[in-house]
Amino acid sequence: MTSLIDFDIKDDSIAVLTLNRPEAMNALSKGLLDELNEYVRKINADNSLRCTIITGSGEKAFCAGADLKERKGMTEEQVIEAVHYIGSSARNIENMKMPVIAAINGAAFGGGLELALACDMRIAADHAKLGLTETSLAIIPGAGGTQRLPRLIGPGQAKRLIFTAKRITAEEALNLGMAEQVTSSDNLLQKAIETAQAIIKNGPVALRQAKTAINQGLQTDMTTGLSIEHLCYKETVSTDDRLEGLHAFKEKRNPVYKGK
Ligand code: COA
Repeated sequence: MTSLIDFDIKDDSIAVLTLNRPEAMNALSKGLLDELNEYVRKINADNSLRCTIITGSGEKAFCAGADLKERKGMTEEQVIEAVHYIGSSARNIENMKMPVIAAINGAAFGGGLELALACDMRIAADHAKLGLTETSLAIIPGAGGTQRLPRLIGPGQAKRLIFTAKRITAEEALNLGMAEQVTSSDNLLQKAIETAQAIIKNGPVALRQAKTAINQGLQTDMTTGLSIEHLCYKETVSTDDRLEGLHAFKEKRNPVYKGK
């Protein structure tokens, strides 16, 4: 059976996952989600991997969301289960212990955009279109979109986009803060890898704790958020890597971090 996800490793520590159903615009069939979750689990368990990039095969689509053909034959209960599965997969990506970059190589609609919103940052190819298009199908974003998009770009813009089911350009997404970078299609993976290379130079424990502090702190008030930050900081203090950082500074060399 052909694989629905391609897995590659760059520079020994950057995992690249490519959604690979180009004939279906990389839509999220159950089989694709099963493979995606299995890779997420494996990458998380591998201490040599420090950053993950998620992209799609071809130039047309990053991911066209839920598999609408699969869905057509489903009972109401199965639909609820299917949307829950996309949601829990997005959550697994969000909770990966390392930074995760979505390299949006084409259309990112519905659950496809929800997957990208669960990543830590998004780099879009300049021809890509993005949208939470669910209300045009008489449903709502159900894999985190109604929660993550307003947190990212504010409630007014999120409501405008969700209520209108509008498909926006990469440039608009950049202006709204829905994508952090836009680049040419040719350069997309390279740009994502360069960002990952800048990340993996830094302390793995620090990266994990910074991600936790930001993600958990965003869900709460400032006082609680600052307590979370303090707890996360403390996790870095007893690491060998912190001492290595200080030694490397003194010795005017690049630090070599081991994630310990
Ligand atoms: N689920 C299953 N199959 C899908 C799909 C989806 N979400 N999106 C596209 N496909 C399939 C098409 O049915 C078509 O298959 P076919 O060749 O058997 O007819 C194939 O992928 C190519 O799609 P097509 O629409 O012909 O290509 P396009 O380049 O004209 O348009 C999109 C691409 C992504 C803009 C368009 O397919 C689209 O809008 N898809 C729906 C996206 C959406 O609303 N997702 C939200 C779901 S909640």
